[in-house]
Amino acid sequence: MTRIKTDILVMGSGIAGLTFAIKAARHFPDRQVLVLTKTNEGESNTRYAQGGVAAVWNHETDTFEKHVEDTLDAGDGLCNEEVVRIVVEEGPQRVQEIIDWGARFDKEKNSEEYDLAREGGHSEHRILHYKDLTGWEMQRTIMEEAASLSNIKVMEHYFALDLITQHHLGRLVIRVTPGIECYGCYALNKQTNKIDTILARATVVCTGGTGQVYRATTNPVIATGDGIAMAYRAKGRVENMEFVQFHPTSLYNPVVENPSFLVSEAVRGFGGILKSAEGEEFMQHYDERLSLAPRDIVARAIDSEMKKRGTECMYLDCRHLNKEDFLAHFPTIYEKCKSIGIDPFTDMIPVVPACHYMCGGIMVDTYGRSSIQRLYAAGECTSTGLHGANRLASNSLLEAMVYAHRIFEDVKDRLDTWDYRDDVPDWNAEGTNEPKEMVLITQSMKELKDIMSYYVGIVRSNIRLQRATDRLLILYRETEALYQTTAVSPQLMELRNLITIAYLITRSATHRRESRGLHFTTDYPDKLPFVEQSVL
Ligand code: FAD
Ligand code: SIN
Repeated sequence: MTRIKTDILVMGSGIAGLTFAIKAARHFPDRQVLVLTKTNEGESNTRYAQGGVAAVWNHETDTFEKHVEDTLDAGDGLCNEEVVRIVVEEGPQRVQEIIDWGARFDKEKNSEEYDLAREGGHSEHRILHYKDLTGWEMQRTIMEEAASLSNIKVMEHYFALDLITQHHLGRLVIRVTPGIECYGCYALNKQTNKIDTILARATVVCTGGTGQVYRATTNPVIATGDGIAMAYRAKGRVENMEFVQFHPTSLYNPVVENPSFLVSEAVRGFGGILKSAEGEEFMQHYDERLSLAPRDIVARAIDSEMKKRGTECMYLDCRHLNKEDFLAHFPTIYEKCKSIGIDPFTDMIPVVPACHYMCGGIMVDTYGRSSIQRLYAAGECTSTGLHGANRLASNSLLEAMVYAHRIFEDVKDRLDTWDYRDDVPDWNAEGTNEPKEMVLITQSMKELKDIMSYYVGIVRSNIRLQRATDRLLILYRETEALYQTTAVSPQLMELRNLITIAYLITRSATHRRESRGLHFTTDYPDKLPFVEQSVL
């Protein structure tokens, strides 16, 4: 066991974590910023982002007000308007920063103007992108920028297990007490298989999303909600977990893949049209914005058409689009389709909804401060108030950059007021043995994903949620028993974390007796006249 001290601890090396780390390291050249990441530095949801970053760029056609309105409209009454204005108005400065660090966004042909794309729910073209590999380009940029700063240390294959609070010092901690403090975390060094104690003055959770709680997801396997589960265990506040965004168009592949490959919404923004196998359009029955309606509407429409017709997928027709332009914009999507025998210029692309984004998460204020002192959070693991009941496409990379900056603004004035806690004990592994039955973990994971996919998916009902709750309780008890007796492994911790996430989603969904944004239940199909956040 090793004890490590660092001024600032960041969990996660995606857009939120590295953007914050770069700013902090540059401001405090003589302080250490330690970034933990559970696999390779470059593996994150960020890396897979396709569509791009939404930002008001062309002030001749677009305005902050329009972006604010689109965000509020998608959020279905649950956004915090102050937060929406902050993100929309500060967003372009943050985008400019990453451009200054070297990010390349596509420009119009023979022009210095950015090629702004449009996606569902946006009233204007305002998405900066790099082909269909925007996330890859942004991840590359922040990794290079971070590598140029000698006081950032990235420790790969380090799995953060739990936040350290007074609880670990043997003190009583009462939920919601403003006095809970975070002193760092315990983390499993996957190379030595030892659990280290990492002590920090300030800790920032940037651990990303939760997509792996469902069977079909566009999220990579790292997206297991670890940060949200850790914050909840540490008695931090978590909110709006019922708002799980299903992307309408993941590529339907009979050979099941994890993750599912995404067919970007930008393809619909480019003119792709949703159709049935017979080539009929169907979106006119659901929304006047047709294929470019907000995601919740399109995903439910596809789900409903598939159920009515008894089909495995619906289709995206791109055959009428200009071949050269399509290839320039979507080379990766084209190649992926070809690899499974679909030629987008002669075949319609088979698509199916898949879990894509968690709108809820660790509750934070406008400076990314969680309900736990000295603990900040940014990115997909948070609930800032921007997304409300449904995230507007391409607003999340923007949100992560804006909050990384705001946390930096807050930390820079407070870091010196916080010291290390040297009385933190090392991890206690007493009574645990090496795992003998890994197969139990794999099987429970499969069951968990099935429960969530069958009972807590796009369409919910009281009876389905009750079934999920009953089954989750069994899984919870079995897994906790395993945890008490088995040496910690990433697989066991991810299972435990995902069970917590599943419970938080199901419980929030059960409490919301209305249909709003991404939460749709057949028992309460209407919206209530008042709005309430689901705080847990
Ligand atoms: P991530 O980028 O997911 O980073 C999380 C980091 O935390 C990773 O480094 C991970 O290894 C680390 N981590 C997790 N748990 C632990 C642990 N226990 N210990 C240590 N490290 C840990 N958004 C847009 O705005 N525009 C888009 O076009 C877009 N397209 C998308 C396409 C796809 C296929 C997907 C999956 C998402 C897309 N999104 C898009 C959403 C967006 O990519 C994410 O919301 C955003 O990148 C999240 O960034 P993050 O920094 O919060 O988390
Ligand atoms: C996409 O390219 O469709 C994803 C955009 C997003 O999730 O914001």
